[in-house]
Amino acid sequence: MPKMVWFKTGIVPLEQASVSVLDHAYLYGDGLFEGIRFYDRKIFRLDEHLSRVIDGCRYLGFELAYTHAEIRQAVLDVTKAADFDNGYVRLNISRGTGLGLDPKNIDREANLVIIASSLALYPPEAYETGLDVITSSFRMTPPDSLDPRLKCSGRYAANILAKQEANRAGAGEALILNHQGYVAECSGDNIFLVRRGHITTPHPSSGLLQGITRDSVFEIARSLEMEIREEFLTSYDIVSADEAFLTGTAAEVIPMVSLDGRPIADGKPGPVTGKVMAAFRALTKDGTAFD
Ligand SMILES: Cc1ncc(COP(=O)(O)O)c(C=O)c1O
Repeated sequence: MPKMVWFKTGIVPLEQASVSVLDHAYLYGDGLFEGIRFYDRKIFRLDEHLSRVIDGCRYLGFELAYTHAEIRQAVLDVTKAADFDNGYVRLNISRGTGLGLDPKNIDREANLVIIASSLALYPPEAYETGLDVITSSFRMTPPDSLDPRLKCSGRYAANILAKQEANRAGAGEALILNHQGYVAECSGDNIFLVRRGHITTPHPSSGLLQGITRDSVFEIARSLEMEIREEFLTSYDIVSADEAFLTGTAAEVIPMVSLDGRPIADGKPGPVTGKVMAAFRALTKDGTAFD
């Protein structure tokens, strides 16, 4: 459990950081969030995460009273105060406080909360044996309803429903297709396949959050001199792939070994996945020091 959090203007003990029950993210999901990892007291891809959340604030029309540099400093300060070597920063911004969905009638002082804590999404064995994945019956919210780049609290109701389907099936993740049947992403991560010597991942137009870990895999593929493509993929591509893996800040890089009970290749994590996992671990050394 975190002891200290950054709340509105500075660091306070966890018990003193409480948002109103009229907070617009609590009432309507009218908030944005970011999950950021730190490794050996260095925050990984801090500016990329902050740019994503600030872009989201601009899109939603939040009146954010903090600059990128101020939020950056707040993240560094609270992570230092939390004093974990490795862990997870959770940054939440809500539009403001007040009843009624119309933003013009509420107090639009955005509530910013930053929590630094530890987080293990999957047990260590899952990184050795890989995850079983099921196809969710819930489809990706189309971009003309809500842009998939928007990491907005409200949209995650669908992802949580998908994750519960995975839990009921005893699987580690749920794959979400778009309305055309193309693969978009999983409930909390992006998907990659290895096919005939190259890496492939759903094209952004399939409707997905363009993950910051996903971007790292593009960097890694270049360093491994492997071709990487963005394509329109279906479950056919997954089931006939040589390897599959998932990426996300919380999950990091984790092998995927089956879809709906059908093994991918021999149902074991493959060699390219192993190389990408090792290269990702090496990349994480390259973060922003918080002390
Ligand atoms: C729906 C969804 N897709 C993909 C990702 C992976 O994104 P990132 O690598 O930026 O954490 C996440 C996690 O943030 C997510 O929630």
